[in-house]
This record gives sequence, C-alpha cells and structure tokens, in this order.
Amino acid sequence: MVEMDRRHLLRWGAAGGGTVALAVVASLFGCGFAEIRTPRSTAGQVDFRNPLHIPPLAEPVIDEQSDDGAHRIFELTAQTGSSQIVDAGPTETWGIDGDHLGPTLRASRGDTVEIRFANALPEATSLHWHGMRLPAEADGGPHQMVEPGQTWEPSWRIDQPAATLWYHPHPHGQTEAHVHRGIAGMFILDDDEEQALDLPREYGVDDVPLILQDRSFDSRGRLVESGRRNNGMLGDTVLVNGTAEPVLDVTAARTRLRVLNGSGARSYAVGFADGRPMTMIASDGGLLPAPVELDRVTLTPGERAEILVDMEPGEEAVLRSFPQELGITRGMADTTGSRDELDLLLLRAAATLRPAPPMPERLVPLESLEEREAGTVRGFELRTNRINGRLMDMDRIDEVVTAGSTEIWEVWNSHGQPHNFHVHDVQFQVLTVGGQAPPPELAGWKDTVYLPPHEPLRLIMRFGEHTSTEVPYMYHCHLLWHEDQGMMGQFVVVDPGDEDDVDVAPRLDQPDLGSAEEHGH
Ligand code: C2O
Ligand code: CU
Repeated sequence: MVEMDRRHLLRWGAAGGGTVALAVVASLFGCGFAEIRTPRSTAGQVDFRNPLHIPPLAEPVIDEQSDDGAHRIFELTAQTGSSQIVDAGPTETWGIDGDHLGPTLRASRGDTVEIRFANALPEATSLHWHGMRLPAEADGGPHQMVEPGQTWEPSWRIDQPAATLWYHPHPHGQTEAHVHRGIAGMFILDDDEEQALDLPREYGVDDVPLILQDRSFDSRGRLVESGRRNNGMLGDTVLVNGTAEPVLDVTAARTRLRVLNGSGARSYAVGFADGRPMTMIASDGGLLPAPVELDRVTLTPGERAEILVDMEPGEEAVLRSFPQELGITRGMADTTGSRDELDLLLLRAAATLRPAPPMPERLVPLESLEEREAGTVRGFELRTNRINGRLMDMDRIDEVVTAGSTEIWEVWNSHGQPHNFHVHDVQFQVLTVGGQAPPPELAGWKDTVYLPPHEPLRLIMRFGEHTSTEVPYMYHCHLLWHEDQGMMGQFVVVDPGDEDDVDVAPRLDQPDLGSAEEHGH
C-alpha cells in the first residue's frame, strides 16, 4: 500500500510541476503531520451520546407581503466562537449568529430575499449561495469579498423550485479553511408543488438537516488545520451539524433527512447499517420526478440528497457512510478516505410514532432539457488542479454565455484524482456518464456532480436572465482544496448581442473528447 501511495504521489508530483510537490509535502508535514490512516472503520464503535444539534431557523424581518411573495430581510453576522464538540477541550470555531455553523435560511419561490451580512471575523471572507439562481453581484463568490468590520447587502428574487441549497464562504484560496472553521449553513427553498405533496416537513422534527463534515482535533480539542494531501484535509471524526457522536430522537414513522456533504475532500456513501432501504426524493436542485428506493446514496463535496426513512416504534438505526466506488486507484482512494466506513448518526425512535401517510408515487414532473435546444457545446478538461490547462485567474473571463440559452457542457476528468464539477447560477441535468444514461439519483436537477476519472459527463443547462459583462460566475471542482489551488474558471452571462463586448480569454486547446469517449469503455 505504501508502494502504491508513493507511486501515485510521484505521478501527481511529476504532472503538477516536477518533484517540488513531493518536497513540499515532505517539509510541510514532516513534523506534526496528523496523518489520517485509511481505510478506517468506526462501524459499531461510536457512542452516540450527544443530541444532534439542529441549526435554528433564521428569523427574517418580513415586510411587503404581496401576492407574489414576501420581502425577507436576513441579518447575518459571521463571528468567532468557542464550541464544546469533543471531550479534549473547547474548540475555537467560526459561526454565523452563533459559535459554530449558521442558521438555516428559508424562503419561498417568488420571495425577494435581502441579506445584511456583517463580517466580524478577523479575516476577509465572502458568503456564496450555493445552487441559487441570482445576479452575479449577489452570488457571494471571490469578487464579493467582505472585509472585517464591513457589511454586504445582496438581494435577489427566488426564482427556482423547492430545494435544499446551502451557503458557505468563497474567498479565493481560503475557501477550505473558512468552511473548515465553521462557516456553512443550509438554505431551504419552498414552493407550491412541494407543499402539495404529503411529505414530512416539520423542521427539526421530521424534516431534519444533516450537514456532514469530517474534522480532526488535537489533544486540547483544537481543530487540526493541516495534513492536506492530494485532495485536501481529511478528518477522522464526522460531525453532523457540528455534533460529534450525534443521536436524533425520532418521533414520526417517516423522517425526511436533508443530507449535505459539507466536507472539503471526503465523499460519503450514505445508507443504513442494518441495510434498511431509504427513499431518495430530491437531489441538489429539487425534487426528483418520482421517489427512488436506494440502499445508498453517494455524495461528493457540495452535493445534497433528501431521503425518507421509515422506522418502527422503539427501534434504532445507524446512518453510516460505506466505502465508495469513485473509480480511482487504491492509493488514491486512501488519500481521499473513500474506503472508510464511518458511523454518522443514531436515529432512536420513540415508543409511539406519528403515523406516516402513503408514499407519493410521483413527485414533480421534470422538464427534460432537450439536446436539440442546445446551441453551444463547450468542453472542460480537469487535470492537475487546472481546467482546460489554466489555473483560476480572477482577472480572466474564460467563457461568455448568452442569457436564456441552453448549452451542453462536456466535462472530463482526465487524470487519476477524484474531482467533481459545480456550476454557479444554474441547475443542470446529466445526459450521460461515460456514454451511458445516468443512474436514477442523478436524474434530477444537479449543480454539483462527481467526475469519475476518464469518463466524460455531458451536462445540459439553461442559463438565466441575470446579466453582466463585468461580474462573472464560477465553475470549479468542489473539493475545496482543489478549488483553492486554482481548479476554477469564470463565465459571464450577457444579453444577446453583447457577447463581443467581453474580453474573453482564448482557449488553450480543446480537450479531445473523442478519445475520452473511448477511455470510458
Ligand atoms: Cu459551493 Cu463555487 O461553490
Ligand atoms: Cu478536484
């Protein structure tokens, strides 16, 4: 195994610019490097003694309730704090309106959201609304930095289906660290179609957010912010909503879990230890056309799934992350923890449970985007922390997209590391994975998707109507360390006819997708 590791590190080092990478790895982590040994298993070994923290619902000021929706004003402050997470001692954490993580924001389709975000942290940061369709100025990416002591006030109208979205910082080069310290939260969107279905929806009771994040702590309980390997920091303890060894007291026969992979590098294959089936009802961008019964759902960093689980009175069930098939070598799997088996959460059912209604047979019809509507096809090759051969440059626009257009993006991970792909401002549909139709869990709206090495994905997306020739949106790998290292590009969405007003960087070369297709088999 050591041999494998070295070979892959060498290969990666060579591709990433000579043996410098190796030397850096050795010198940075030579002493005090808390190496996480993988594969690890905590199956059956977690105590589950802490009640699961439920992030509070943010309470907006609501004015001008009109027929189309309300005007919701959320005041949020990012601040430093201290949290009791592990026995070793209090942990210095960051949070929004609290010590660790942030409140859950909630709004309905048609509402206008106004955020008043104050940065009381010692560092400049930003707050990005992951999965949201909004003007680029409101996106909270690296172009909307908020200095310490400053505030930022974006506003937009919610114009997309009910979904489980989230928010996190996006400062260029510092995203992994800022998320790791604790800035992240959920943003739940509601709409009439979702409300019309007989689904669990009592927040924190039978509709429960689960933010999965792996962390390591030192002997005094401090977060270990080092030990980055190829894919970024890996932790040996999985926190759910910031709680270690969490237990959820279940009071309904059916519970809806809104699961977010809020980790930087680790993926999870979420299922139940006793093998009970679960029903997936939604992916990143909203409800699936019909419920899908699954044993496991794999979530790479940034992805979400809503799942329903049924329990009998008095029983217990452990939510577990199983080893994942990421299509990578064993050595690489060990640097990303994908062979680990980790217990996440104990669900403990009460002696009497609120009965569950019958499972809906259909959810919401999915408008399939048609390939023939797509005017433009773009290729994106991800390799060695670059996209199409380039590192992120805040001053470079890589792509110009026409508002309202439908496009196909062919995305290809052409080397052995795990990567995924996230696009701001749109929800896309996956047409094919390695030339094959996607599995049912990828059949709905997505904004982040895993890219198995050497298997091109074809994504179809329709862009919105918010335009700017100046302020870009991002696309990037959502393994946060890769993103920080520059695996990111920028696109603007412009009004028809304005395409030539943008100074767009010429492509270095087009990825050879013909040969990628062959690799896929
Ligand atoms: Cu969740 Cu550009 O990120
Ligand atoms: Cu990556």
